[in-house]
Amino acid sequence: MKQLLVIGSMNMDFVTHLDHMPAVGETILAQGLELVPGGKGANQAYAMGKLGGHATLLGAVGADSQGTKLCDNLASVGVDVSRVLHLGDAATGMAVIGVQPQGDNSIIVLPGANSRVTPDYIRQNLDVLEASDIVVLQLEIPLETVVYAAQTAKRLGKQVILDPAPAVAHLPEDLFPCLDLIKPNETELGILTGRPYEPARLREDALSLQAKGVRRVLVTLGGAGSYLLREDGSQEFFQADPHVTVVDTTAAGDSFVGALAVSLSRGRDLADAARFASRVADIVVSRPGAQSSIPYLEE
Ligand code: RIB
Repeated sequence: MKQLLVIGSMNMDFVTHLDHMPAVGETILAQGLELVPGGKGANQAYAMGKLGGHATLLGAVGADSQGTKLCDNLASVGVDVSRVLHLGDAATGMAVIGVQPQGDNSIIVLPGANSRVTPDYIRQNLDVLEASDIVVLQLEIPLETVVYAAQTAKRLGKQVILDPAPAVAHLPEDLFPCLDLIKPNETELGILTGRPYEPARLREDALSLQAKGVRRVLVTLGGAGSYLLREDGSQEFFQADPHVTVVDTTAAGDSFVGALAVSLSRGRDLADAARFASRVADIVVSRPGAQSSIPYLEE
């Protein structure tokens, strides 16, 4: 089995359940508050560990109880967190999440220690990068670190996957040729291409990312499944389970990417991996929370 490396964010999620999202100037009452381990990078690594993959996480937390809880939770499913930074002068990242009755959410992130995941830190842990086969990145740590890590991983011959979340409009052009795979959702695809997502333009938009140098594009489309564009121009759609009752969509994209990487690490091809990732995401949206919703392989 191949070795997986996630370089990314770690947050404690403060999850509130709301009747509706507050409008500008509106005050609303929430129903309860739960603390759930989260962060896009940590969620991906947790999914890899829980699904039986061999994963290491490079990231940062504060030297506080939240940081310890996040690391313990990851270690409990076998993720190697031995190189995670514990910073005495920064707080562990936090996310305030509002979940509506239909499962949709809004997320506000306070990066804290995540903003200290620097290129220097990656340089200091080059041996971890060298020992890995598949490197997974997102955009909740400094962009210069993502670019540095992707370029270094590419130079070392690693397979590089980018989950461009949260999406930014103008990614550096030299990032794209480092990517074997980019996995935006439909909203992120719209931000990357500079025009709102339209189903009729899906192939055209994916092709525009390929034209920038990305090898393969996999777009997740929520309840409409996902879409793969391969390097030879061939394409494939994957269905989501139409019978799933959506409870909370938090970490659906993260666990899709984690599951995809685990499947690739077992030598499966990308289409097989995408089907497996879809099933995992189907389970994740049917349960509350981020890491709390991610299933074991047996499930
Ligand atoms: O993708 C979901 C994640 O986004 C949450 O766990 C939250 O921490 C933010 O990073």
